[in-house]
Amino acid sequence: MRIVYVIGTRPNFVKTAPVIGALRARLPEGRHALVHTGQHYDRLMSEVFLEELGVPVPDHLLEVGSGSHAAMTARTMERLEPVLIEESPDLVVVPGDVNSTLATVLTAVKMGIPVAHVESGLRSFDMTMPEEVNRIVADRFSELLFLHSEEAVGNLRAEGIPDERMHMVGNTMIDTLVALEERFRAAGSARRLGVEPGAYALVTLHRPALVDGPLLPETVAQLVALAAEMPVVFPVHPRTRKMMESLDADHPGLLLSEPLGYLDFLSLLADAGAVLTDSGGIQEETTYLGIPCFTLRDNTERPVTIDAGTNTLLGLDPAAIAAIPAALAARDSSPSEPPPLWDGHAAERIAEIIASGT
Ligand code: UD1
Repeated sequence: MRIVYVIGTRPNFVKTAPVIGALRARLPEGRHALVHTGQHYDRLMSEVFLEELGVPVPDHLLEVGSGSHAAMTARTMERLEPVLIEESPDLVVVPGDVNSTLATVLTAVKMGIPVAHVESGLRSFDMTMPEEVNRIVADRFSELLFLHSEEAVGNLRAEGIPDERMHMVGNTMIDTLVALEERFRAAGSARRLGVEPGAYALVTLHRPALVDGPLLPETVAQLVALAAEMPVVFPVHPRTRKMMESLDADHPGLLLSEPLGYLDFLSLLADAGAVLTDSGGIQEETTYLGIPCFTLRDNTERPVTIDAGTNTLLGLDPAAIAAIPAALAARDSSPSEPPPLWDGHAAERIAEIIASGT
């Protein structure tokens, strides 16, 4: 069997690493070719991550870089097509909801190559989010849909997708977290930064709705105010850094850093007193780790993290950051259970399904 895996952005390296490992182990005689689109290209956003995750060196680098959504998607499609002609795969495996995912699915489906979509069925019901469009297209045109939470089934059925295409396998991002747990628990990144485990807030923000428009200055002001209550550690995504530099504002009290490696980041996440984010993956990781997460968005495509009791939607409203200390004080801190099948074995289930179809 010939399989092509397509990755391009930081979260998708994390979601795909265990799938490649499990399928290589299950189908050792097969061809397993890795394509990196290059949507994320900074060393800290890409190479460091791939090394830590033990992802093999990509066989094909498309180097698409940044650009408008149309330009990025078109460039990826144009450069991926000859690779798929050369590799002639039986299956293309692609995770998530980023522009690389959209481009991959469109290219493969038009060439008649079946696609397996990992992390299928998530919906925010917010079409202004670029990822929502990407998710709908990916699920509509993929033959094998790998789901990680129950609500995905209803979302897909509502779009007319038949049950035969759906496979509830669990969460491959959590597979990676489980595989790295011993290492990140030993990393001690909080103490190295000079903050007390359990006593600081970890912040990540990168979505256009928050960082590209007028909400960013107030968000930064609110973070500075929060830092008066508890240390605020903020590894800054390149998109956010560019926007913050253009603000020319002071950020007293904020511990700003470059994007971190995954082990360092997970270490900080596991030891945080609270997490403030607009990321999807971090809502899931905090749910698994039982860390209180505050999500600065109006909606989430991951309601399972709210049901689990770890995640609170603050709304797309920087003023809500001020409520975090009181919410933490009032919080029920009894331990929560991770959702079903978030157990470190999702990729093995995927490999079993793909291999048994050969
Ligand atoms: C993308 C995904 C988002 C995902 C996020 C994870 C889409 C539509 N968005 O958002 O779903 O949550 O990745 O990080 O695919 N840049 C660099 N170096 C890099 C990468 C980006 O400087 O290595 C800068 C560029 O100026 C670029 C901007 O950051 O224009 C945004 O990058 P882009 O890939 O468009 O989207 P993300 O915001 O990273």
